[in-house]
Amino acid sequence: MSEKKSKFFSHETIEKNVGLMIILSILVVSFAGLVQIVPLFFQHSTTTPTPGVEPYEPLRLLGRDIYIREGCVGCHSQQIRALRAEVQRYGEFSVAGESVYDHPFLWGSKRTGPDLARVGERYSDEWHRIHLRNPRAVVPESNMPAYPWLQNTALDTSELQSRMNALRFLGVPYTEEQIAAAPAQVDGQGYTEEDALVAYLQGLGVGVRDAREQAAQAAQQ
Ligand code: HEC
Repeated sequence: MSEKKSKFFSHETIEKNVGLMIILSILVVSFAGLVQIVPLFFQHSTTTPTPGVEPYEPLRLLGRDIYIREGCVGCHSQQIRALRAEVQRYGEFSVAGESVYDHPFLWGSKRTGPDLARVGERYSDEWHRIHLRNPRAVVPESNMPAYPWLQNTALDTSELQSRMNALRFLGVPYTEEQIAAAPAQVDGQGYTEEDALVAYLQGLGVGVRDAREQAAQAAQQ
């Protein structure tokens, strides 16, 4: 019956030849990966910012770098899944357009602590400061590490413009004027690393929330 079939790509040849099997598996997985990944670079929903999403202001941008440096993403995700329990606990589920200006994105995959995608303005600045200096002071059972040195470390602003330029290169629409004016917003004001980190946290999810509320109000009128 199968006498006429080429023997080379028969199941038998592939199964008996580990090298060939590995090469073909890699080809299949790579192709399937590309089919899934490439369209995301062109698709509207993943390349257009959600209403309310703006490029980070200078202080928040530097705060984000501290968040990355301190490894907060190792315990905190920033992606609320479209599941009822998640939405009830954290708020509206996250969409791709919310992180178009995040390079690298900080969705995370481990949740030792709660998701932070919408933590902005949920607590006061003072709460965050107390919590960062000693989480046990506000949440007795917390196992989050303390970051007491942030309050005493002056914020390094020297690389701000090169960071903004790099982000612009990656597609974040900072204007020349914004980049030129950025250092004046953070230099010489005595900002600590804690100030920048708190500013970053307080902005998470806020723009999108406000834009949604405005849209809902406009729809009612
Ligand atoms: C070892 C894991 C771990 C690391 C690392 C960690 N956290 Fe946490 N975080 C937790 C846990 C657990 C909680 C919940 C208990 C609490 O509120 O302290 C939490 C809570 C929080 C909350 C309150 C969230 C809410 O909705 O109540 C914020 C804000 C927060 N962390 C910020 C940070 C920041 C910023 C960093 C990095 C500087 C960080 N965390 C690093 C484990 C961690």
